[in-house]
Amino acid sequence: MTQSLTRPDADIATDWWKRGVIYQIYPRSFQDSNDDGIGDLRGIETRLDYLQALGVAAIWISPFFPSPMADFGYDVSDYCGVDPMFGTLADFDSLLSAAHARGLKVILDFVPCHSSDQHPWFVESRSSRDNPKRDWYIWRDAKPDGSPPTNWIGEFGGSAWTWDAASGQYYLSVFLSEQPALNWRNPELRAAMLGAMRFWLDRGVDGFRVDAIIYAAPDVEGGDHPPNPDWIEAMGPARSHLQTRMSHQPGVYDVVREMRRLIDSYPNRVLIGETAGTLDQVIRYYGEDLDLFHLPFYFSLLTTPWNAKAIAGVIDGYESALPEGAWPTLVLGNHDISRIASRVGVGQARVAATLLLTLRGTPTLYQGDELGMDNAIIPPEAVQDPWERRVPGLGLGRDPARTPMPWQPAANAGFTSGAPWLPVHLPPEGDVAAQSADPGSMLNFVRELIALRGRESALSDGGYRDVLCENDVYVFERRAGSACLLVCLNFSAAPRFVPVGGKVLLSSHAGRAGTRLQTLTLQPNEAIILVP
Ligand code: NOJ
Ligand code: CA
Repeated sequence: MTQSLTRPDADIATDWWKRGVIYQIYPRSFQDSNDDGIGDLRGIETRLDYLQALGVAAIWISPFFPSPMADFGYDVSDYCGVDPMFGTLADFDSLLSAAHARGLKVILDFVPCHSSDQHPWFVESRSSRDNPKRDWYIWRDAKPDGSPPTNWIGEFGGSAWTWDAASGQYYLSVFLSEQPALNWRNPELRAAMLGAMRFWLDRGVDGFRVDAIIYAAPDVEGGDHPPNPDWIEAMGPARSHLQTRMSHQPGVYDVVREMRRLIDSYPNRVLIGETAGTLDQVIRYYGEDLDLFHLPFYFSLLTTPWNAKAIAGVIDGYESALPEGAWPTLVLGNHDISRIASRVGVGQARVAATLLLTLRGTPTLYQGDELGMDNAIIPPEAVQDPWERRVPGLGLGRDPARTPMPWQPAANAGFTSGAPWLPVHLPPEGDVAAQSADPGSMLNFVRELIALRGRESALSDGGYRDVLCENDVYVFERRAGSACLLVCLNFSAAPRFVPVGGKVLLSSHAGRAGTRLQTLTLQPNEAIILVP
């Protein structure tokens, strides 16, 4: 256990991205404005009041760039535009200024490691072996027997290499064949991609979440991956081998350093990394001189068994490993994984939200998690996700966590008047309108947590200390100077005695706030914040 209090942060006042909560919008599913069944930029703009009332500081919008949508926008065919499905550049500018007028920052999703196979760069690159853009992608000869250059497996199953019969070589495609890997070792490609980032920075965006960055510098010459001795089928084919060459190679850090230099040449921007990996790997993405990502996502809470001991162990390990000055950042859900309410059980959803929103660092909240959204059941004929289509039945499909936001009692819960691209699914506590009207709802609880975090310096910038972890209960302290709070989480569905006392500032359960307790008996699934 971490016994000493981790250090409060000195730059909290100047670095806006340390202060508030980031809210992830999956634009296809947030709000449709033109009844084609797909969410869009104008739709987001009409819902900014909701986000302002929720109290988040920034929105990160998943890709809305021109795309054939093989991976729903993570296959970009023009890095400097807006797909007509989502609107126009003018719609984006309007959304950006409306967000800024409300004090909301806007973070884009930059997808640097692969483009669409329909991107003009790739069309050129594949047109012949001596095309000037050939080297903008990663091409290699087949082995003498015609097989791919290495045994690497793509994230969505099958070989990570795609054969191009016309030019007689394989190209690397870490996800779908429709997502050829870009070659960041080529200086012209590098300049073009940094130019695309500059395009959006000049328009006024506040930063980027950088997609799948771990694949920026694959070591093809390093050869095959060894088998994973711990693999079981449920992990999916991509985990059957250890990715010793394809991801986290040394060249990745140079790429991130260049992105960061660009970001730092603009005032007040943030660089966030999708840095899936072990704790050691994630820590490296801060950079030895903190010159890489401001916020490299640490995803461990997505996969850690949901019990007090395991979760406290992850947090203590993270807090101890963070270098001086590195700001933590945790995630409990996103568009790639089962809904948190389904992973931990609907009863634990408030405990999970309290954990996310009271730990040190910048939390990212995925749209709908503030409503306690659980996974939707997607009938086979409604499946959209290419991963589920390629590797069906293993539970890898991402549609269940991507269903439209349920807003109000109207056709398709107010998301669209057309036919929604994925079925509309209501969370157990109902839509936004119902939850707004219910003081005890998950939505109002999350609003209170976010407001409390903004008000209490112990939560926004205080240090962290683990106080106790036993009997399904995890208690930690947050302290800034003399301001001190205790966060007490009951991971079980039974009451639990806890040897701490104080005044209840906030509870997940009705009728507790404001009471003074000598000792605490947490109710089943209860989360409490105490002033000791
Ligand atoms: C990570 C994104 O979050 C995911 O949705 C996407 O499929 C892959 N990267 C490929 O870009
Ligand atoms: Ca639409």
